[in-house]
Amino acid sequence: MSAPIIVLGIESSCDETAAAVLVDGVLRSNVIAGQDVHRLWGGVVPELASRAHQEHIVPVVNEALRTAGVQKNELSAVAFTQGPGLIGALLVGTCFARSLGQALNVPLLAVDHMQAHILAHFIRDNEEREPPTFPFLNLTVSGGHTLVVLVRGPLDMEVLGSTLDDAAGEAFDKGAKVLGLPYPGGPLVDQLARTGDPKRFKLPMPAIAGLNMSFSGVKTAFNDLVRNGIARDPGFLERELPNLCASLQQCIVDILLRKLQKAGRTLGIQRIAMSGGVSANSALRTQLAALAEREGWQAHIPPFAYCTDNGAMVAMAGHFLFQAKQFAQLDTVPHPR
Ligand code: KG4
Ligand code: ZN
Repeated sequence: MSAPIIVLGIESSCDETAAAVLVDGVLRSNVIAGQDVHRLWGGVVPELASRAHQEHIVPVVNEALRTAGVQKNELSAVAFTQGPGLIGALLVGTCFARSLGQALNVPLLAVDHMQAHILAHFIRDNEEREPPTFPFLNLTVSGGHTLVVLVRGPLDMEVLGSTLDDAAGEAFDKGAKVLGLPYPGGPLVDQLARTGDPKRFKLPMPAIAGLNMSFSGVKTAFNDLVRNGIARDPGFLERELPNLCASLQQCIVDILLRKLQKAGRTLGIQRIAMSGGVSANSALRTQLAALAEREGWQAHIPPFAYCTDNGAMVAMAGHFLFQAKQFAQLDTVPHPR
């Protein structure tokens, strides 16, 4: 029997410091430390993010190893997010992984954050879940990216379309900011929208060819809607808050699902998946499931904890890189873009 593949995965691309341990592709621990400091500033402050990663990385990695019941010297490899992300934040994870890999004399696995979001579908834990079979289409929706990806294999992916401006998560967060909600606004818009009417306010649908998308027009229209509303009536925001959230959310969901539908039909692919932080959105999840039913698709969405940034997806991507013997050099550097 060959030795188990034990991978430590470290994520530090934005504002979560996270680490996880996978043994032969099965998740043994998944630890995450968020960063509340950014709330005060209404968005992620890169310098503060780097400092918080420096504070959190040692305790988070130790906790991931401890709860997994794995000793450092049992690790087969150390995986880390190489990019894209904030340079200072990525540097903390990269330098830590490099030192640990060197100290333990095990290979380094340099993970692409967007690939990791997709490979989150393959994390195995205590729950029974069928991962998508290849090839499949993945809608990757996060705070920094919005992509339609053709996934041919774990390490063979092609971007078919992307946003031309803001990411879907940014559209949620910027809209929330106009409403006076704290960062990150996406989850709050989701929550408030539950009691709102998504048809109350009409926002413009962008006309972008192919599988690309745009969210800047929605952002501007939403901004104008809120500001003009408040100028006319000081009670507007308080009265309409759930309706504003529901209308913004519906417009973003419509943009995403129309492109996904187009991609599925154009390529004739019926296995559709979604991942990234915005895939935690409840309206997007239910409406994707309904669309899948109508189109005869098999739809896959990872559990909530693997949608937003986490160490498990980095370890999972690392596991595939290890199997493919795609190791990184010890002097490897972050790739912010
Ligand atoms: O993937 P992620 O954790 O980090 C990045 O790689 O960017 O995604 C974070 C984004 C943020 O914009 C956040 O507002 C959004 O995901 N998000 C949501 C929800 N949960 C997280 N957006 C809408 N509804 C949610 N429930
Ligand atoms: Zn992410």
